[in-house]
Amino acid sequence: MVKRPKMENMERLKQKKILITGGAGFIGSNLANELASQNNKVIVVDDLSSGKKDNLTLRNGSGQANITFYKADVRSKKIAEIFKKEKPQIVYHLAARPLVQDAYKNPYEVIEVNVMGTVNVLEACRKQKGIESIVVVSSDKAYGKAKELPYKENHPLQGDHPYDVSKSAADLIAKTYFTTYGLPIKITRFSNVYGPGDANFSRIIPDIIEAVIKNKELQIRSDGKMIREYTYIKDIVSGCIKLSSHNANFGEAFNFGSENILNVLDVIKKSESALGKKINYKVLNITKNEIPAQYLDWSKAKDILGWKPETSIEKGIQETHDWFKNYFINEKK
Ligand SMILES: NC(=O)c1ccc[n+]([C@@H]2O[C@H](COP(=O)([O-])OP(=O)(O)OC[C@H]3O[C@@H](n4cnc5c(N)ncnc54)[C@H](O)[C@@H]3O)[C@@H](O)[C@H]2O)c1
Repeated sequence: MVKRPKMENMERLKQKKILITGGAGFIGSNLANELASQNNKVIVVDDLSSGKKDNLTLRNGSGQANITFYKADVRSKKIAEIFKKEKPQIVYHLAARPLVQDAYKNPYEVIEVNVMGTVNVLEACRKQKGIESIVVVSSDKAYGKAKELPYKENHPLQGDHPYDVSKSAADLIAKTYFTTYGLPIKITRFSNVYGPGDANFSRIIPDIIEAVIKNKELQIRSDGKMIREYTYIKDIVSGCIKLSSHNANFGEAFNFGSENILNVLDVIKKSESALGKKINYKVLNITKNEIPAQYLDWSKAKDILGWKPETSIEKGIQETHDWFKNYFINEKK
């Protein structure tokens, strides 16, 4: 198991029964570990298609097993049975196929997991009494292309391509379970998230750090000019916890982003200065249909939840680099 940096000054939830779908993945496991360390009873449901059980520390501060794990597909009947058995008070739905390139290759499966998986989880929630809060994790990709930036929460959801449209659809479906059935839903729309625990090398920060540690050439699939907003995992976890602790604004979406609005070449420069190393890279310019620029207005989360991102990109990249050094050592064992 690879250790992660401590999440200081984190908002707390205590002694709740919390079910997290996709909880063995990058964002889900960081959230699950943090909630377990705060003395909540955490239940992770994941099919392990990309997540790893090893990402879960499975112990709280007193050494007790605080995370119960179920291997299950979010599209399956098992989901309703797990809800019935565990009776969670708080639900976070993160399970998804989250990679844009995967969605181009496998649109049927990605759309089915991201859309029908969400419907299946929300159906289980609908049949379960006593749920206080359901957070459905959406994405800035749900907005599609924008004429005006930054995106505000009232921007129409109009993804054009398979991954983006799967997130637009799941986001709208989540809202309907509030509007039609009164479920206590809230929706998060994250910018690009990075940090310890993300070993998806089709994402730029893991890719850069791998190139640095393995001393190899970094190949940039885009033209290097795409602008994205990069938010550190610790800030995303704190946003998720604040959102489910806040007992109002049900049925609404919240953007979570940062001050780091950068193109790919800027991310390389930031990484060079954070890590004190020169990065050798080549621009391939082979990607198609990428949204040229995306960033969020997250003032709603700031004003209503009192949330703001705390981690500078330099510190975030250094902590991620430290995590990857151990990750590659463990990989060799
Ligand atoms: N990482 C980002 O930059 C980012 C940005 C915005 C939104 N999101 C959203 O956050 C969520 C988590 O993304 P992540 O980056 O942690 O990805 P991830 O791939 O690390 O985690 C997704 C998890 O879902 C699980 N999963 C996939 N299909 C499943 C299925 N059919 N049934 C059960 N479990 C299944 C995987 O095994 C994995 O553990 C996703 O909903 C994603 O769309 C991520």
